[in-house]
Amino acid sequence: MKAIVQEQYGSAEVLKVLEVEKPKPNNSEVLIKVKATALNAPDWRLLRGKPFVMRMMTGLIRPKNKIKGCEFSGQIVELGQGITDFQLGDEVIGDIADEGFGAFSDYVSVKTSLLAKKPQSLSHLEAAALPLTAVTALQGVRDIGQLKAEEDVLVIGASGGVGSYVLQLAKYFGGNVTAVTSERNLEQAKDLGAQEVIDYTKKPLVNIGNKYDLVIAVNGYNKIKTYRKLLKPEGRLVMIGGKSMKQIIFVTAFGGLLSRKNGKKFKGLLAKANGKDLSYIVNLVDRKEIRPVIEKEIIFEDIPRGLAELEKGHVSGKIVAWVNKD
Ligand SMILES: NC(=O)c1ccc[n+]([C@@H]2O[C@H](COP(=O)([O-])OP(=O)(O)OC[C@H]3O[C@@H](n4cnc5c(N)ncnc54)[C@H](OP(=O)(O)O)[C@@H]3O)[C@@H](O)[C@H]2O)c1
Repeated sequence: MKAIVQEQYGSAEVLKVLEVEKPKPNNSEVLIKVKATALNAPDWRLLRGKPFVMRMMTGLIRPKNKIKGCEFSGQIVELGQGITDFQLGDEVIGDIADEGFGAFSDYVSVKTSLLAKKPQSLSHLEAAALPLTAVTALQGVRDIGQLKAEEDVLVIGASGGVGSYVLQLAKYFGGNVTAVTSERNLEQAKDLGAQEVIDYTKKPLVNIGNKYDLVIAVNGYNKIKTYRKLLKPEGRLVMIGGKSMKQIIFVTAFGGLLSRKNGKKFKGLLAKANGKDLSYIVNLVDRKEIRPVIEKEIIFEDIPRGLAELEKGHVSGKIVAWVNKD
């Protein structure tokens, strides 16, 4: 089968389309023919093996997980032993970032606990844009952010893969949402439900004042004291992502310490893929409460180029690719 393979650390140019062995499903796994996939931050963040300390997990000299790709939409073509929750022919979606990646290939073998049925209202290409990004957003808004109706929410970086779902879910859970984007994405943010929009190129966040119960940092970079200034007394910051890996790791590790001052709470999110949250997302999609935002459709062979573009940090929504269109 074909796959996008990384044999060494480097830029997206080290990725090659190669023939590799087709996986076999173990117990509690199913074999899925991948129809479509989508590109994500972990696909490019782990390419270079930097910061070096990350190689303790990803492989010291060469990457351990050679086939990249987190999200997919496809069809079950073989059942492992003891599978009762899914059937041959089921159309499913999933995120395998926690299981060693591998979605940039013709077939993946996946534990059924990570799967959800594909939304009926979406094509495979659209459905592939959900699993990692929408579940990350759900866990950020609902679980870590604990957003309540009528709270004032600021979503910083509301136009990207994760951010466009954070915005829609914050709206869905009843928040009064202000979205921070650049000018070219202001209309998209309004369409997705933002009540107010801020162009970060024109209005420094540091001057806005303490107006928000919840600030969700998805992209860009701001000092910790800027986030603190944006929060109302007792307000919460959820850090999902951003430009500085160091800051994301710092807030995730030391959120408790940062939260000791002023009663303002700081927490980092480490999203965990699971079929239950994914099914929750599918239900919202089929009820037209949220939708994927697709910036670009590319061919399989162009995935390395797509990752290089994603790394630049200005894709609005998702880049998706057909793997097997038939
Ligand atoms: N915590 C977790 O478990 C987890 C899981 C998945 C992803 N992440 C992280 O989440 C972050 C976002 O991922 P993503 O997929 O949404 O990224 P993405 O799709 O690459 O985000 C691109 C968007 O970010 C916007 N942006 C760039 N600079 C900005 C700034 N200074 N202020 C506001 N918006 C800005 C861009 O809009 P403009 O062109 O308008 O600037 C663009 O629309 C990444 O850091 C990723 O590593 C974390």
